[in-house]
Amino acid sequence: MNIAIIGTGNVGGALATGWAKAGHTIHLGVQDMNQFKGKNLLNNPNTQVHSIAEAVTMSEVVLIATPPTAIFSIIEHMGDVSGKTLIDATNSVRQTPEPYKTVFHALVDKTKGEVVKCFNSTGFENMLNPIYNAEGIDMFMAGDSDAAKQVATRLALDIGFASCTDFGKADKVELLEKLALSWINLAIMQGHGRNIAFKLVRR
Ligand SMILES: NC(=O)c1ccc[n+]([C@@H]2O[C@H](COP(=O)([O-])OP(=O)(O)OC[C@H]3O[C@@H](n4cnc5c(N)ncnc54)[C@H](OP(=O)(O)O)[C@@H]3O)[C@@H](O)[C@H]2O)c1
Repeated sequence: MNIAIIGTGNVGGALATGWAKAGHTIHLGVQDMNQFKGKNLLNNPNTQVHSIAEAVTMSEVVLIATPPTAIFSIIEHMGDVSGKTLIDATNSVRQTPEPYKTVFHALVDKTKGEVVKCFNSTGFENMLNPIYNAEGIDMFMAGDSDAAKQVATRLALDIGFASCTDFGKADKVELLEKLALSWINLAIMQGHGRNIAFKLVRR
């Protein structure tokens, strides 16, 4: 797939790397092509840098991995995203994209894309390497678009997650951000460190 990465920092960089290695074509969409975080991503296979508008035009999937309040300028730059899968990996932890509760809600209201919340609920190190004790950890997703969920699931499995568990529809997006906050609480506030992950077990 052709995937636009908007936000080429910790999360965007980890996912761009995994997806490039899995054979996808990566279009980094940046504000300033001469100066952006993650320039080293250009050493990955199948990876090019463009303006945000160009990267989105060339892609059927768009990952948003920026501070939440950047979403309004990004929406302006993206242009028409009808039918494209928009993956929101952000968390409104320190800032909220007012008047919306999350970036997901802004994307649903202001674009015609197929929106899914995914790749927000664990640390970027776990996106670079989701393998613990020879087994993949779980990713989680929420939203109303079944088509976008299919794409997110494939992209999670492509980089080694064991599953992409459906957390529910759009009314569960804020809860999924709380799962991210729970990971941050355990990893940082409670001192367990960033090498921890969630896995759903069944019997
Ligand atoms: N860090 C984690 O482990 C983690 C895990 C899950 C979810 N998240 C969430 O993912 C998001 C990104 O976190 P991060 O740690 O990857 O951040 P980061 O390393 O600081 O990277 C942020 C990226 O956003 C870009 N950006 C900022 N404003 C922009 C704009 N107006 N238009 C386009 N790009 C813009 C920056 O580009 P420049 O280089 O041009 O400044 C940079 O590439 C946050 O919402 C965070 O809550 C983080």
